[in-house]
Amino acid sequence: MNQPKKKIVLSGMRPTGALHLGNYVGALRNWIKLQETHHCFYTIVPWHALSSEYENPKVIREYTLEVALDWLSSGLDPEKSVLFIQSEVKEHAELHLLLSMITPLPWLERVPTFKEQQQELQDKELNTYGFLGYPLLQTADIIIYKAEVVPVGEDQAFHVELAREIVRRFNRFYGNVFPEPQILLTEVPKLAGTDGRKMSKSYGNAIYLKDSPETIKEKILPMVTDTRRKRRSDPGEPEDCPVFTLHKAFVSERKREELAAGCRTASIGCLECKKVVIDALIEEFAGFREKRSYYQKHPEIVWEIFAAGNQKAREVAQKTMEEVRSALGLVFPGPQKTSGKNR
Ligand code: TRP
Ligand code: SF4
Repeated sequence: MNQPKKKIVLSGMRPTGALHLGNYVGALRNWIKLQETHHCFYTIVPWHALSSEYENPKVIREYTLEVALDWLSSGLDPEKSVLFIQSEVKEHAELHLLLSMITPLPWLERVPTFKEQQQELQDKELNTYGFLGYPLLQTADIIIYKAEVVPVGEDQAFHVELAREIVRRFNRFYGNVFPEPQILLTEVPKLAGTDGRKMSKSYGNAIYLKDSPETIKEKILPMVTDTRRKRRSDPGEPEDCPVFTLHKAFVSERKREELAAGCRTASIGCLECKKVVIDALIEEFAGFREKRSYYQKHPEIVWEIFAAGNQKAREVAQKTMEEVRSALGLVFPGPQKTSGKNR
């Protein structure tokens, strides 16, 4: 029987260094599942990192490797998905340029992340052309593969909405080249970091996928719990406990309910409760750590895997760009410098 054609998925991550548990439950874990049912493109996006790190671009390469190591070790599989580096597929830049011609400035200026990020990162000059165009570059990333589904968290919803609007405008001007990408909203469980605030690299409170069992213990054991539990005999409320956000993401429901009941009746202590989630994390990432230490010793293998992914992505992107150029009538006699065979 004919299988229904797999839908095309694309998602991306900025290379900001090793991934933490928040990145894992908010994106990666979902992406790994989607590999079984969709035709997935996953990309690390150095050009997006550059839009805010332009003063210190040298870190981006190292951070790209860190993300690549985490991807391959956690189960993103180059046999199932196209794993690639955005800036190695130059066609994204060409499409971004062409899209910039049809994009009214107010569409970009009203993207909430534009003003928000400028506010948040006050020490950086982000009133730049590149930073304003960030979501348009993201649009190019998505539509150059004719992606139909974009799995992202709520914070990226507006960017995908912009991509849809750009697609409608492009298709209206030049004919139907691109499908409108659908957002696949990822439920992002709120994970607390070691200080009880939202887990984030910039707060310095993150637990990393690559952390050793000892580090995981050292980070979780001293964490604050529900403040009602001053003594072992004081009952607590798991919903008010930062540690329990980790249970919600990594401990089975059955076990979790047992612990929650024990917390509310003070029949278990926080130490015991923490040990359960520590063990769950150590167990969930056992295979990961093994793979990561292998790849870490052989970065050339990692780059090779990505080079193959870059090539696969490039072929698709080049085909789309041929369609785009011809839809605009921008095809001229003579060899096409960026067409597959001449590259
Ligand atoms: N802007 C996204 C983020 O910060 C990263 C990204 C770049 C992306 N290109 C993309 C996400 C394309 C989805 C699709 O997380
Ligand atoms: Fe948190 Fe568990 Fe302690 Fe309850 S028992 S406060 S859920 S660590």
